[in-house]
Amino acid sequence: MDMKETWKAVDAFINEELQVSDEVTESILEKNEEAGLPPIEVAATHGKMLYLLAKMSGASSILEIGTHGGYSTIWLARALPKDGLMATLEVSDQHANIAEENIRSAGFEDQVTVIRGQALDSLPKLMEKGYPRFDFIFIDANKDSYPEYLEEALEVSTTGTVIVADNVVRQGKVIDPETEESNIPHIRKFIEMLSENDEIVTTIIQTVGRKGYDGFLLGRVK
Ligand code: DHB
Ligand code: MG
Repeated sequence: MDMKETWKAVDAFINEELQVSDEVTESILEKNEEAGLPPIEVAATHGKMLYLLAKMSGASSILEIGTHGGYSTIWLARALPKDGLMATLEVSDQHANIAEENIRSAGFEDQVTVIRGQALDSLPKLMEKGYPRFDFIFIDANKDSYPEYLEEALEVSTTGTVIVADNVVRQGKVIDPETEESNIPHIRKFIEMLSENDEIVTTIIQTVGRKGYDGFLLGRVK
């Protein structure tokens, strides 16, 4: 087996042995696929990691930037206490419609709100809308705005806020400033901003699996 096949097989093994996926999460993936959404949801093993991180941090308010079809949304919403709430920002109306259906069928419609529009328009309005500072923020939208998303995420953070961002390694291209992948300069800027910011403690975890080779930024606001 080549390495990529091994990563996938081990991902499937973990999924099977630890019963990571269930009917609800699987049915969301099916619905997203039927609707023709690109299959770029986090892997189930990573969805459960997001759930665990949110649960471990005791988050009662969660913000997601980039809803897609609501797959990671559901994993995160599951970590909320009964009186917890979540906002998830989505630019595509089609994706937001599907996500809302998925959120409803998973039973989280009272706790999770899909906020439509450009995230950079929605983010500065969250506090005036009455949202509290968020305990947990997951960034997984268009990569060319990661630097701005970081700035806005920090604006709605408080001491102890956990910030996680997807896709910060991109098959290792992150270390190649000359790469053709147009997102990389923005991801590099995002990482550089974090390195210069004394208010957040960070690391990056490289990952392999169903989606190939990538990585997550993990941070905690001081
Ligand atoms: C891709 C993967 C992602 O996780 C994402 O958020 C966006 C794009 C991709 O592989 O193209
Ligand atoms: Mg992603």
